[in-house]
Amino acid sequence: MGRLNKQLDPRQTGYEAEKLEGDLRKRIIGQDEGIQQIINIYQTFLSGMTSPGRPIGNFLFLGPTGSGKTRLVEATAESLLGDNRAVIKIDCAEFQHSHEIAKLIGSPPGYLGHRETHPLLSQEVLNQYHTERIKISFVLFDEIEKASDALWNLLLGILDKATLTLGDNRRVDFSRALIFMTSNLGAAEMSSLLRPNLGFAAGEAERETAAGVVSEKLTDKVSRAGVEAARRKFTPEFMNRIDKTVVFRPLGEGELRKILTIELNMVQQRVFNSANGAPFVFSLTDPAREYLLREGTDVKYGARHLKRAIERNLVHPLSNLIATDQVRGGDLIRVDFDDSQTCLTFFKEAEDMPAYAMVQMVDTSIAPPLSTFSASAVVEPPRVINARSSRR
Ligand SMILES: Nc1ncnc2c1ncn2[C@@H]1O[C@H](COP(=O)(O)OP(=O)(O)OP(=O)(O)O)[C@@H](O)[C@H]1O
Ligand SMILES: [Mg+2]
Repeated sequence: MGRLNKQLDPRQTGYEAEKLEGDLRKRIIGQDEGIQQIINIYQTFLSGMTSPGRPIGNFLFLGPTGSGKTRLVEATAESLLGDNRAVIKIDCAEFQHSHEIAKLIGSPPGYLGHRETHPLLSQEVLNQYHTERIKISFVLFDEIEKASDALWNLLLGILDKATLTLGDNRRVDFSRALIFMTSNLGAAEMSSLLRPNLGFAAGEAERETAAGVVSEKLTDKVSRAGVEAARRKFTPEFMNRIDKTVVFRPLGEGELRKILTIELNMVQQRVFNSANGAPFVFSLTDPAREYLLREGTDVKYGARHLKRAIERNLVHPLSNLIATDQVRGGDLIRVDFDDSQTCLTFFKEAEDMPAYAMVQMVDTSIAPPLSTFSASAVVEPPRVINARSSRR
């Protein structure tokens, strides 16, 4: 055994953590800190270094509405468990009264309805999405500032000892759970910073977002407003149990532009997955994209506003075109922008395209897992979509 003096690099991550990071960066725009914190905790878990008797990790996510808090949790579940719905969501606003806690933990034996209540947080529920390879549960407590004291006490127990005692005294083990808590605390302060409508401060946010960025200075202000609001509301004993508090950045036009590409991909996946079994491909011209972006940019509502603009201007018209048989399986549709009528316009550019050619036209790496249609189309030999001819 010779003596060595080789410098090691603790910043390197293993293959699995790297894969998760790559997946998250493709799906989540502009929230690098949130992504980094998840990677750190996941790497610690993979190395077996998680503190014994505690959940794998717990996070408090603050920040403006529509900035990706819930999406980051879903995207992590999507990458690790292959399903973005593999998240157990507890909407704390539904448990504001102490008696409603029975829905979560079941009522004690002997109580009326004891047999009928299936606790929302049993071990079976927690483990239901585990896969052969990955045994991690995702639990998301939304709007925790609305939780009742009873729920609060449950939460403290879970964060501290990774256990929850059900109404009938069974114990639920949370040591393989990632716990996420979100809160809109400070939202009012944040939005007044983002959209000041009175006084000399007016225009700061507008000017910055017009340039496509929300500056570091403004982001810092928003971040501080979030953390201060959380400190005012939550007890030190709760804040002490949080592994990481992340304040999500407000999304500027630059970020929304990237999210637009992701969301358009999602719509294309929806077409592949359903569209009455008659998949087609659409592509947007630059003016059409710019129009959606203009319609969908609102710093205050983040990406939610953009998604609404896509539904209204693209999904609804496409649905009408499908329902009236103007768009059929195998079509290639060009979506353009009409300046004089300020709306999107739709043109059929090709028809009877084979499935494999359609899949090749779409970037499937940033969309949800491939649908049965697209997955089989990639591996199967070329064949012509016959949805159209069968209808004739
Ligand atoms: N940073 C982001 N990157 C990619 N997509 C995003 C991002 N932020 C929001 N989105 C898109 O907008 C949708 C709404 O965002 P999300 O549900 O994560 O908002 P939120 O931050 O949880 O807001 P709220 O506080 O209102 O719950 C997501 O489903 C996703 O499609
Ligand atoms: Mg949310």
